[in-house]
Amino acid sequence: MSSLAIDNIGLLITNEPSLGGDGPLGELRDAAVVFEDGVVVAVERAGVDADDRVDAGGCCVMPGFVDSHTHLVFAGDRSAEFAARMAGAPYEAGGIRVTSEATRAAGAAELERLARARRAEGVRAGITHVEIKSGYGLDVAAEAKSCEVAAKITDDVTFLGAHVVPAEFESDPDAYVALVCGEMLAACAPLCRWIDAFCETGAFTAEQCRAVLEAGRAAGLGLRLHGNQLGPGEGVRLAVELGAASVDHCTYLTDDDIEALAGSRTVATFLPATDFSTRQPYPDARRVIDAGATVALATNTNPGSSNTTSMAFCIAIAVRDMGMTVAEAVRAATLGGAEALQRTDIGRLAPGCRADAIVLDAASPTDFVYRPGVPLVREVFAAGRTAWSAAD
Ligand code: NIG
Repeated sequence: MSSLAIDNIGLLITNEPSLGGDGPLGELRDAAVVFEDGVVVAVERAGVDADDRVDAGGCCVMPGFVDSHTHLVFAGDRSAEFAARMAGAPYEAGGIRVTSEATRAAGAAELERLARARRAEGVRAGITHVEIKSGYGLDVAAEAKSCEVAAKITDDVTFLGAHVVPAEFESDPDAYVALVCGEMLAACAPLCRWIDAFCETGAFTAEQCRAVLEAGRAAGLGLRLHGNQLGPGEGVRLAVELGAASVDHCTYLTDDDIEALAGSRTVATFLPATDFSTRQPYPDARRVIDAGATVALATNTNPGSSNTTSMAFCIAIAVRDMGMTVAEAVRAATLGGAEALQRTDIGRLAPGCRADAIVLDAASPTDFVYRPGVPLVREVFAAGRTAWSAAD
């Protein structure tokens, strides 16, 4: 078993203050991190012995991004819808049906090719772990096909049959909910770890979402929810009441919503690239953090509301417009994502954790905000191996 050290690290972010570093990110200066057999085995002072050595050149090394909310499996393009929105049209959940038509028509091999290309783009941007949702199939065969593709890429697959009501059920949404909770769930659950629903005007009511999540729980799945994206609503409180791992979007939060989150283990996951692309206001993350809730940042990669794989872009918005410090945003994009997925093996660079790390072309993560839009990820390690390097 050979070891690999990333050495000569100017600033190492471990997200594990118990290792002796400064602040909540556990920041160490002049450090090295050693990997063996896909996991972190040591965090040391620079100048360490190992079988192989990567020189970080005094730059910053941090845990890879954990992207806890994506919709990577889809076909088709909605750039015309986006252009219309930039010209003043509102964002509506109904656009999901356009992607659904293209996704139903695509073969599994084509969907896999498209999803893998998006995943590779995310790796280059420093994302070392993703959650992937279905939700553009909206019939039994196409949802199962989407989950199968997602399961080839990640072990955090989410069944999102309750994304929107497909056109053929327009006149009877409850019949669609029954299909989601019955035959569709039975086909998808064996491929998934999570179930999710879109609680919003134009998608599903709180009661319909409750039925879907309870059916998912009975099938052995963990719960997630899209809530409070396009206006205030019952999503956040429903997610907390049901003990969901995460409630995602959280763009419109009332005092009651924040209080509910603060008294719960449900992670509030912000998706700021979505608010950017749909011209929604940015959520006030400061209030949520100050109330004591756990927060995460995710890209929400999808063709309608957030066509980006850049976590750096999300961090830049969170700091500039949502009241988060750089340290809070970095934590939310790494350990926060891991917490939203209820995983203890990722999101930190500490002995025993998966060896997922990124080497930046920067002395500190402040550059994600200070140098917006600049590709700052120089090298990506996933389970201890080089997954991408700018030098190649
Ligand atoms: O998370 N909100 C619901 N689902 C996606 C949007 C999907 C789409 O517009 O295609 C989201 O933003």
